[in-house]
Amino acid sequence: MADKRQNEPMPDVLLELTEGYGEILAMLDQSIAMRRIVDEVPELSGVDVAWLGEPDGGDRIVLGHTVNARTPAVNGLVVPHGCGLGGQVLLRRRPLWVSDYRRSDTITHDFNAQAETEGLGAMIAVPVLHEGRLLSVLYGSNRETSALGDRTTQALEQAASRAATAAVTAERARHAAEIAVHEERRRIALELHDTVGAMLFSIGAGIRTLADELPDGDSAHTRLNDLKEQATQAAAALRVSLHALSAPPEQVALGVALRGDCRAFQERTGIIARFITVTEVPSLSPAHIKAFKDVTREALLNVEKHARARSVVVSAFTLSGGVCVTVADDGVGPPPAYGFSGGLGLSAMSERLGRLGGEVHVLRNEDGGVSVQAWIPA
Ligand SMILES: Nc1ncnc2c1ncn2[C@@H]1O[C@H](COP(=O)(O)OP(=O)(O)OP(=O)(O)O)[C@@H](O)[C@H]1O
Ligand SMILES: [Mg+2]
Repeated sequence: MADKRQNEPMPDVLLELTEGYGEILAMLDQSIAMRRIVDEVPELSGVDVAWLGEPDGGDRIVLGHTVNARTPAVNGLVVPHGCGLGGQVLLRRRPLWVSDYRRSDTITHDFNAQAETEGLGAMIAVPVLHEGRLLSVLYGSNRETSALGDRTTQALEQAASRAATAAVTAERARHAAEIAVHEERRRIALELHDTVGAMLFSIGAGIRTLADELPDGDSAHTRLNDLKEQATQAAAALRVSLHALSAPPEQVALGVALRGDCRAFQERTGIIARFITVTEVPSLSPAHIKAFKDVTREALLNVEKHARARSVVVSAFTLSGGVCVTVADDGVGPPPAYGFSGGLGLSAMSERLGRLGGEVHVLRNEDGGVSVQAWIPA
């Protein structure tokens, strides 16, 4: 029966879903997404050849992802700040073009040999930027020397903007996956601590009691001492492993902590709780992470006590030189007569963040529910 099903053609709707899933996965893989965007550049803009320059950590880009190239001359070229056309784009952060790459007097000519080998004439380079950060440089070139028209420039600019979106989407997806992995590791570590850790402790204690009950000089003492020693060593090894498992890297520590709180909250209350990072968030000190964790816990507790919500979203993002964590629910909102007064939780939150130079705002959402916004300078 399984064979029969394998031979049956896939229904159209499933096929569409499978293709859609493939598309999404491709978007989430930065390298594949970039490749696709560069692939489309010749057709969309009319240039003969296209490629991409990607930063490699220093003040330079490395060229690759060539489309329609005749030779490998461009692939792997390292372009430092200020050199050639791409180097100028690195400096000026705006699209630039030349009608004759090898003879232009507006750029340096470090790469004339490669341009000649590949047979490149007019060339355009457009920065792929996200919030001022250079993600890559998109290139287009014609074999002929000629002025590049508006259509080419606009098409390259549009492709660069799509490339920026793709890169950021992929980065977010990777970050979210990393948070999920570390949060799971932490959960497993805590579970092992509570089960295996506790078992090892009671084995050790049992051996000690047995040893106390045996008369002095009994031959079993040596054997029991060995067993006690082994149990102590096993407990120490477990502690080291648990520590490694439960300590997330700095750049995902906030996400891991808040995702863990969301999971525990959902398990306890049945209210759906999600954590998302909206923008990249800088690494934070343990004190800052603890403050955000405390605020989130109190805000989630308030959701449980007062909101009658079906779902709550905890999000983290950078804002005005700091980091903001919001807890937004879809519940009934505060009682009209009392607003947010009457308790200690919100004012304690405000004090705690104030000590770190931060602040808390509690707002009624336009479509019902409450948002708690906590901000700390980074
Ligand atoms: N998510 C929410 N949905 C609806 N109302 C809320 C929400 N969060 C807070 N409130 C309202 O704001 C009031 C003040 O909240 P606060 O946390 O300061 O005190 P509390 O939860 O009542 O008591 P506690 O001192 O134990 O925290 C609440 O009593 C409630 O009326
Ligand atoms: Mg409260």
